[in-house]
Parts: sequence; C-alpha cells; structure tokens
Amino acid sequence: MIDLRSDTATRPTDGMRAAIAAAEVGDEQRREDPSVNLLQERAAALLGQEAALFFPTATMANQIALKLHSRPGDVLVAERHAHVVIYEYGGAAAHAGLMIEAIDGRHGRFGVTELDAVTMPGTKSADQRPAVLALENTHNSSGGRCWPLAELEPLTAAARERRLRIHLDGARLLNAAVATGVVPAQIGRLFDTVTLCLSKGLGCPLGALLAGSTETIERAWREKHLFGGAMRQAGIVAAAGVYALEHHVDRLADDHGRARRLAEGWHAAGLPVDLEQVETNFVQLDVGALGLGRDEALARLREAGVGLSSTIHPTVVRAVTHLDLDDGAIDRAIELAPQALGARVAA
Ligand SMILES: Cc1ncc(COP(=O)(O)O)c(C=O)c1O
Repeated sequence: MIDLRSDTATRPTDGMRAAIAAAEVGDEQRREDPSVNLLQERAAALLGQEAALFFPTATMANQIALKLHSRPGDVLVAERHAHVVIYEYGGAAAHAGLMIEAIDGRHGRFGVTELDAVTMPGTKSADQRPAVLALENTHNSSGGRCWPLAELEPLTAAARERRLRIHLDGARLLNAAVATGVVPAQIGRLFDTVTLCLSKGLGCPLGALLAGSTETIERAWREKHLFGGAMRQAGIVAAAGVYALEHHVDRLADDHGRARRLAEGWHAAGLPVDLEQVETNFVQLDVGALGLGRDEALARLREAGVGLSSTIHPTVVRAVTHLDLDDGAIDRAIELAPQALGARVAA
C-alpha cells in the first residue's frame, strides 16, 4: 500500500538505525543519559528556549505543559479543532482540571479580537481565569496549515498583556518553519513552552520534546516523573532524535514538494482538491463533491492500494506525505486515486 494516511508511518532509515545502534546511553531518570542530554540541548537551541525535556510522546509533552501553566478550575483557550482539544482524550480536564474555551478558527488560526472575546475582564469570575493559550503550528485538523509570524507576534504579545501563559503545540513546527522560510527559534521564542514531535515528519520511531525556560523545564521534570514518563536508557531513542535534527529537517521541503505535486496531479485529473490549502505535507480531498461518503472513498482507495485517512470533516479525507514515500509512490498515487474515486476532468 502507498501509505499516505499519516506522517507517523515513517520507519527509521538505515542511517537512523546505525545512530541508534551506536548510541551512548545512561540513566535518563538520573539525567545521566548523554544522548538524551545532547538531544535536549540541541532542541532547546533550535526552538529558541533555555532548556528542553525529552518525552515519549507529544501528547504527554502537551499535557504536562498545560498543567505547568495552570491550576485546576482555570480556563484553557484554544482553537476548537486543536489536537489538545479534540484528540487528547480530555486530558486537559483530566490532568490539569482545565475548562476549555474553544475559539472557532479559520485554518486553525484566530486573532486578538477572538482572544479578547473570551478573555476580557468581567467575562469570568475572579477565580475562573483564562490561564493558558495553546496554539498549534502546523494545524493538523485544517490540513497542515501554517501560522504566519506576522499573526503569531501580535497574538502572543496580546496574550502576555492579558497575563496568559502561552503554549505551542508544535508537533509539526519544523514543517511550518521550512514552509514559511522562518528560523524555528523565531517561532519558538514567542511561547512559554513548545512541544516538538520527533515521530512525524522527522522520521523517528517515537519521542517528543518540550522546551521552555530553565525554571519551567525543572518543574516539567517532576511532572514527567509523576506521569510515569521518567525513563532509563532512553538514549537508544534520543539518538534517533539527534540524527533526525541533523539529517531530516531541511528535507521536509521534499515532503512539501511531493504534497504539492500530488495535489496538482489529482486536481488535473478531476479530483476535488483545493490547491490553496496545500501549504505543507497534507493534501485534503472533499469526496462529497464526487457523490461519495468518506468511508466509501477510503475503502475504494484502500482497494486500489492507496491509504488515505479521515479528518474531522465528514466528507474530507487526507493524504500526508513523508520520508518513506518517494517520487514513484507519488506518481502511482496520482494515477490510482482518480480511477478509484471515479474522477472526471471537467469538459
Ligand atoms: C498537532 C499534534 N499534536 C500532538 C500530537 C500527538 O503526538 P503523539 O502521537 O506523539 O502523542 C499529534 C499527533 O498526531 C498532532 O498532530
């Protein structure tokens, strides 16, 4: 199958496996794992923060960040379809006791006016305070859309003025940085904490980082232990992360180029793709326009040997490009999907 379901499908390359095999390791819980320590230093610098902490998953990094920035009963402000709102099993409520004030975004984004509508003094009782703003870049549910720096800067500045702590779910932050031509630290330094995922476009088997100030990351160490996430010879995995930061960042542009080629190929063959939506490694198809339901479309594609996945939108399916797909796989998907879905080129 040409697996376009998600960029989490990547398997370690030979080079990454060699780095894993050669990894120097120690006891991570005692902060004695040299590979973990190196990865944390590199990630902190990359993300424009003082320190970083290694986690098994981006979900755990996000959840701990939210907890660090709040008290039970506080309010989390986030876009309605953000990963922390809809895909983390209510963790913000379960772990941090947060209530969620969801904002209807456009392509996962919103501005100071929308922030003000939910954080203006007087809209909450004194003890029920909006405490955390969480943004997502790229925004998964909108199809991998990026925040322009020119929108992030005023929004994060306004959030600070309103005394909110600010977290970035930057699971795919490096996709955003590469696509918008910005140094990752320019984005990362606007936030109090930043999550970066290693197991998506970066091609690691697992792992994520949370970056922030030295003081915040010290507190995160304790929370990580409390969550059962303190590990031992985790350098086996961290070495893959170090390798990925050295070898797999610039090449994200290849994934973006392939997504664009796939989108243009499908569009030319009559599939309903909105080309303007394609900014990074996601391509969304609205199969409703072909008179198909989502499950029917996915089943037909699977039958033809092309794996796509569902989205939050009832008629939209998505393809995600990644490290394990070459130009040949994209060419075959361009050929197979329109046939499977019965696309017709407009006369
Ligand atoms: C935007 C975003 N944040 C967080 C996560 C969670 O990542 P993990 O599977 O490592 O917990 C994902 C996973 O798809 C994601 O897309």
